[in-house]
Amino acid sequence: MIKHFIDLKDIPVKDLKKILIDAKKRKKLRKKKNNLEIDKESPLKGKLLIQMFEKSSLRTRLTFYLAIKQLGGSTLTLRPDELHLSKGGESIEDTAKILSNFGNAFMLRTDSDKKLEEFKRHLSIPIINGLSPSSHPTQILSDIFTVEEIKKKPISKLNIAWIGDSNNVLNSLIAASIKFSFKLNIGSPRNYKPNKKILSYIKKNKNRIFIYEDPKKTVIGADVIFSDKVISMNDKVNKIKKLKCFKKFRVDKNLMNYAKRDCIFLHCLPRGKEVDEKVFSSKQSKVWLQALNRVHVQKSILLYCFGKLR
Ligand code: CP
Ligand code: NVA
Repeated sequence: MIKHFIDLKDIPVKDLKKILIDAKKRKKLRKKKNNLEIDKESPLKGKLLIQMFEKSSLRTRLTFYLAIKQLGGSTLTLRPDELHLSKGGESIEDTAKILSNFGNAFMLRTDSDKKLEEFKRHLSIPIINGLSPSSHPTQILSDIFTVEEIKKKPISKLNIAWIGDSNNVLNSLIAASIKFSFKLNIGSPRNYKPNKKILSYIKKNKNRIFIYEDPKKTVIGADVIFSDKVISMNDKVNKIKKLKCFKKFRVDKNLMNYAKRDCIFLHCLPRGKEVDEKVFSSKQSKVWLQALNRVHVQKSILLYCFGKLR
């Protein structure tokens, strides 16, 4: 069976844990290596990862590039406006057939969850979701790695808080909370709470998830505070109105003081006004390590998709 990586909800937790263990081992072994040096054994030698970004990306693009290179493979990044798909009228089915003939895995960042599913149906190679309107699974799995690396504890023993919009990144954090069984407090304004589908997913699964409208209550006792931009790339909203609703949901020093003393701040980046500069550039902020770790975790995600996880 092909191992796709589309949504954390659909991946067995034992596989997610295996990915994290592999990433930890591989990161240790790379301490003295340069970015483009290849891992011993070159496990993905000869393999081609095709990537396509229908929306902007800096980190995901760079980290998948380095990830496949370090495993001995190569990558080709397609520009959606240069394909016949969409404007040129070529179908997903035919595009997928060609991708499967020449590539060994396909990483897609898209503004359509349906498109991911349709590609999955027609590809005979694994597909990886590099961010969709409903989730950002590679980001959150990597963030769990970062949290456990810093806190030196399994995430199930930590209190995680989210301050911000109910978006794709939060959806993946919710799925992770259910899979890894960690406590997750969500703080969002009244009209920006997780949607019905997500709420019913939470309800159907044994969970430790609590939703608040007060940011201070949300972060009491938190070991980690996550945030993300109020306006996401897929957001077609009145931006001024939305930003106004989030005024109180800003991570500043005062809010950090309600969390544990050694609480860390994480943000997938790019950032907006949801975090104060003083917090962002403080010792508690681990955002650069967070971004770096994506290479290590995505390498193990690739190995998982290629059926080569040790
Ligand atoms: N966090 C993240 O996915 O960043 P990019 O949008 O730059 O890839
Ligand atoms: N929620 C953000 C994440 C960017 C990495 C977005 O979708 O734009």
